[in-house]
Amino acid sequence: MSTNNIWTHKGTFLLAAVGSAVGLGNLWRFPYLAGENGGGAFLLIYAVTLFAVGVPILIAEILLGRSSRRSPIMGMRFLSRTHGTSRAWESIGWLGAASAFIILSFYSVIAGWALHYTWRMITGSLAGADAATIASGFDALLASPALLTLYHTLFIAASGLIVGLGIHRGIENGLRVLMPALLAILLVILAYSAMQGDMNAAARFLFTFQLSDLSVAGWLAAMGQSFFTLSLGMGAIMAYGAYMPGEASLSRTALAIVVIDTAVALIAGLAIFALVFGADLAPDEGPGLMFVTLPLAFAEMPGGSLVGGAFFILVLGAAISSAISMIEPVAAFLVERFDLNRAQAVAAMVITSWALGLLSVFSFNVWAEHSPFHELLGLSAFGLLELLTHIFMPLGGLMISLFAGWALTHGEVMKELRTSEGWFQTWRFLVRFVSPAAVAFVFLQAIPQLDG
Ligand code: PFF
Ligand code: NA
Repeated sequence: MSTNNIWTHKGTFLLAAVGSAVGLGNLWRFPYLAGENGGGAFLLIYAVTLFAVGVPILIAEILLGRSSRRSPIMGMRFLSRTHGTSRAWESIGWLGAASAFIILSFYSVIAGWALHYTWRMITGSLAGADAATIASGFDALLASPALLTLYHTLFIAASGLIVGLGIHRGIENGLRVLMPALLAILLVILAYSAMQGDMNAAARFLFTFQLSDLSVAGWLAAMGQSFFTLSLGMGAIMAYGAYMPGEASLSRTALAIVVIDTAVALIAGLAIFALVFGADLAPDEGPGLMFVTLPLAFAEMPGGSLVGGAFFILVLGAAISSAISMIEPVAAFLVERFDLNRAQAVAAMVITSWALGLLSVFSFNVWAEHSPFHELLGLSAFGLLELLTHIFMPLGGLMISLFAGWALTHGEVMKELRTSEGWFQTWRFLVRFVSPAAVAFVFLQAIPQLDG
């Protein structure tokens, strides 16, 4: 493999991985999950799963990418061959590719909503609107397959374009502009919400908890969220890790990713809840928190259209930097395996995922009540796809941690990790026993929910 496929700088992997990690999961999903699951109680379990499961698996995934220097499917084929283990481990790559198609398909639809709200905010068309108007505006958006498809198409095409330009010209250059801009917007939003909103109420909500709020459902949600938010178990991080120069420190980078991702989720959560409480609104609106409750808060505040517009641009930028990391592993595989050129590979990935996304589009309107999926499984197509990712990502993560923990030798791991023996032993204990046990536990809890 040529140096063409290595990031230009030591720090580019961190930039790319943070671009992948920070996304709708931080800005949209984390705040509403915390809102629904008792605030501080959710945060506590989330922190535990993040460090006991997230960090070790994140390290394992980068490790597999960097030591194989191939796209996930070919990389796992290579590693299982050189270790004389079963080819079944290659399924890590296949499972990841399946997740990538599925997640990108609905991620793009939801990012499309943010495109709509960016537009509504910067044109000032929501200024002063009341709750009923804003709620019915969101309903009208969801009711329109045409509009949803248009936004979905624009978003996925833009993401494909960046990946199509290649890892240097597209991904690196794009992220080098995008990520600092996003950080600046995030800080502006935080400052604005501290001035206009009720930061004390937000902090109280996020940082205090009652033991009675700890629920099994909360554990499930927290575990699913820690995989989703760190982009784990689906090859995105493995693919980016394959381009990581040998000298960059792996465990320090992994820790930085988790700290930054969590900080963004917390800052977004504080800002959103400060605005929501400041406008006397409820924190437990679920997925509508960002698209109904928050626009309403902006509508009532001075300068709300402008800051609201900036907020949705932040959401869009964070979503696009995540979407490109879902395209890259599959595109890289198609190039490696079938000798396609990059444009063809990206087009194949994006068009398939786009078509799959139509299932989610229709789930919000023509299939909202009745669909083949409801009849067969009792959930919408969107619900089914989301559920599948909450099975596939932890399953992928489980296999990644088992392979890295049991198949790789001490020497191989140390060659990449280059840390103290003590930290190595800790990490290996976590990936061998703790993460697999935690994931298995959550699966056992989740199975009864499937038919309920
Ligand atoms: N980590 C992203 C987020 O929090 O929004 C979502 C994601 C990106 C999941 C990339 C999976 C992935 F491969
Ligand atoms: Na995230």
